[in-house]
Amino acid sequence: MYKLVGVVTGEVKLHEFEFVVTGEVRLNEYVKVWTEQDGWILARVVKLVEVEKKKATAEVIGYKDERGFLTQPDSTVSRDDKVFKADRAFITETLGLKSGGIYLGLLEGRNIPVYIRKEELIQKHCSILAKTGSGKSYTAGVLIEELLEKSVPLLIIDPHGEYVTLKYENRNEEERKQMEKYGIAPRGYASRVVVYTPANFSINPNADRLFRIDGINLSVKELYDLFPMSDAQLGVLYQSINAIKSQKEFYTIEDIIKKVSESKSSARWRIIHYLERIRETGILSDSPTRIEELVKRGQASIIDMKGAEPDLQRLIVYRLCKEVFEGRKMGKIPPLMLVVEEAHNFCPERGFERAASSNILRTIASEGRKFGLGLLVISQRPARVDKNVISQCNTQIILRVTNPNDIRALSKGLEFMSSEMEEVIKRIPQGVALLSSPSIEMPVLVDIRVRKSEHGGRAVEFESEEVEEVQTSKRGVLARLFSISA
Ligand SMILES: Nc1ncnc2c1ncn2[C@@H]1O[C@H](COP(=O)(O)OP(=O)(O)OP(=O)(O)O)[C@@H](O)[C@H]1O
Ligand SMILES: [Mg+2]
Repeated sequence: MYKLVGVVTGEVKLHEFEFVVTGEVRLNEYVKVWTEQDGWILARVVKLVEVEKKKATAEVIGYKDERGFLTQPDSTVSRDDKVFKADRAFITETLGLKSGGIYLGLLEGRNIPVYIRKEELIQKHCSILAKTGSGKSYTAGVLIEELLEKSVPLLIIDPHGEYVTLKYENRNEEERKQMEKYGIAPRGYASRVVVYTPANFSINPNADRLFRIDGINLSVKELYDLFPMSDAQLGVLYQSINAIKSQKEFYTIEDIIKKVSESKSSARWRIIHYLERIRETGILSDSPTRIEELVKRGQASIIDMKGAEPDLQRLIVYRLCKEVFEGRKMGKIPPLMLVVEEAHNFCPERGFERAASSNILRTIASEGRKFGLGLLVISQRPARVDKNVISQCNTQIILRVTNPNDIRALSKGLEFMSSEMEEVIKRIPQGVALLSSPSIEMPVLVDIRVRKSEHGGRAVEFESEEVEEVQTSKRGVLARLFSISA
């Protein structure tokens, strides 16, 4: 009944043993060994060598104790013990794999689906960290597809305009061939995805609607968050806004520019310059996009910020985060998942850049769960993302990371990281992730399923530079205005 794959040999350690391979064994394969003391012990093949004989090294994962907890054995396996291929039921039970929920892919080395609980994702936040090109956005797309199918509202901060392709079914031939293995079928989500642009339809022809923020009664703090100011500049702005407030109940950026122009201080020029830049982007409006329109059951709203300057992007993220947080607190909108791509730009670690959106993202990370506001943060520079945000994410999806600073940051920030784990994540192949989640007993490697919908990162690769050039010139003056350089 059990499939024999080898016999324990050499020196056995508490957490590791070697065996001579007699059956079929693959790297990352799960195996089991019977011990007198603890019963069946689960282990995973971490090394395969073939010199005279084929030998494998297996890392001990543990066994399920009477209380149902995954436990590290106190005793070692013995020489000449038989090593069997671990069966599905034993793996599932020992690792505590659940069925149903958010389907992420297959347990690496085995055909066992890995799920995470929807509630854990939303209530306890999630991060996807890895080096560039390793599949972060692809994996985020998988999570988004799953959440969309469960009708969870999504608000997606999309700096590169990659997520619009969620509308279309996956056309990649290679990936379509793999769908059967993962038990899925191609699917587009056109009826559920709404793309917003903070620019306009000539700059972003992919957009469905305009995104506008409230330009009425901007406060000194909001403006200060938006651009760096000297004390003298801050003083002028403060006086001007106070003077307007004493005359008017509602004021616009136009009123602020006018009042600042009346100042005698030479600091006024710089402020006027900044205020005019904001005005020219056209983002401010007296009929702003309502948060109730953005956050709806069964809808994914994508804020496609392609072409917007970093400062403007941070202002947008700041306003959005503030509104979803308050909206949830007051029960104006349903529980949702907020997806933040390139998180290092919006909640940078102290000592790196300053961002208007930092504080509110930190608040959402620490308090969002109380209000059903889940966060999915994605970054290629783990070391540059606010540690307070990362440490609040209970589900961690780590793809390949090679930068030593980033590996150090991960080790410091994540409880489950060990030196073996560090080695593992340096070598993870593309499309495979190390998953740590409250839904499973211990971190496992997951072969992330292929996307049902088209992946946007790839569409960008296909766009030839020629095409890009023509589009840029067509977009013309407005495009330049929208990303006015400082
Ligand atoms: N699970 C997967 N299955 C199949 N292909 C994948 C998978 N993950 C990633 N890929 C491939 O890898 C490429 C890069 O992935 P992706 O765009 O998600 O990288 P990224 O980590 O977001 O990069 P960047 O840092 O540049 O944003 C994709 O175009 C896709 O072809
Ligand atoms: Mg990406």
